[in-house]
Amino acid sequence: MSEGLVHKLEDGRDLSDAEFAVLLEGGCQDSELFLAADGVRRRMYGDKVYIRGLIEFSNYCKNNCYYCGIRRDNASVTRYRLSKEEILACCDEGYRLGFRTFVLQGGEDPHYSDALMCDIVSAIRQSFPDCAITLSLGEKRKESYEALFSAGANRYLLRHETADDAHYRLLHPAPMRLENRKRSLFELKAIGYQVGSGFMVGSPFQTTEDIVSDLRFLQTLKPDMIGVGPYIPHAGTPFSGHRAGALDLTLRVLAILRLMFPCALIPSTTALGSIHPEGRELGLKAGANVVMPNLSPLRVRTLYALYENKICTDEEAAESRAKLERRVENAGYQIVTDIGNVRKHF
Ligand code: 5AD
Repeated sequence: MSEGLVHKLEDGRDLSDAEFAVLLEGGCQDSELFLAADGVRRRMYGDKVYIRGLIEFSNYCKNNCYYCGIRRDNASVTRYRLSKEEILACCDEGYRLGFRTFVLQGGEDPHYSDALMCDIVSAIRQSFPDCAITLSLGEKRKESYEALFSAGANRYLLRHETADDAHYRLLHPAPMRLENRKRSLFELKAIGYQVGSGFMVGSPFQTTEDIVSDLRFLQTLKPDMIGVGPYIPHAGTPFSGHRAGALDLTLRVLAILRLMFPCALIPSTTALGSIHPEGRELGLKAGANVVMPNLSPLRVRTLYALYENKICTDEEAAESRAKLERRVENAGYQIVTDIGNVRKHF
């Protein structure tokens, strides 16, 4: 019965909630699931791995998510902000290293007004007309998303974190609401962004049913990118005592997502690489086709700590890039210098 489930997904058929639960809980051979996911990924994207240069430009955040290391109430964080010039310098270096997508990610930091953010995006757009600009700035008003899109941004990452209302409230204090998160995601899509969503695997209080809800929500959203990585505790948060998400469950989720969304751009996340020495390679072999190395200046690397034991915080971008290339090749794939847009048809 479980082998049938993998074939069913491979054929583009839907599963029932109970069938998804069987797959998630390891009711079929992981090797078979991963092989099927890798097959679909190779049919869609060959052995290509797209690289995105991540620029973590601010660790100030007005939100207080219980799981996140840069939450507002974590007084032990040394806060920093990058200037427009510093961000552009990161892009310069990234471009030289072959990156054609820049991801600007930060906490929800009101210092970066719409005017300032649009100015930064326009400057990047002007200097790098052949690159994609991805934003990961959290929840904003629709008008702000529109202004940023007009300024030249192409993509937006906003994980929904969990599609279950009660679970969302366990992870986020008021005034954060799942409804707002979902509305933002649909607004971003309507504006014309390529949209990424996703969730943490093994976040506190998460059940198998919650993950099934996440899969269902993604079926309605139909995102271009899907970011999924294990939850990892951080000592400066109320969830410090909760254990990290498991490697095998994370890999199963990645493989199921690849089978459900053959064209999606799915990163093998830094979090996955942080819970296992070969986590990112294993993620690629389970269907992921993107990696997002860090382009932030070395001096701020350790300060953008959403979770503990994050990898690559002590390496220059160039060093990371070279090491990653070897790792990706050893796993049986090739890094490509390419804008790496989503494939819409197959
Ligand atoms: N462990 C793993 N991932 C985390 N994120 C935030 N805190 C943690 C953590 N402790 C993820 C969230 C967010 C993304 C930028 O990082 O899913 O959307």
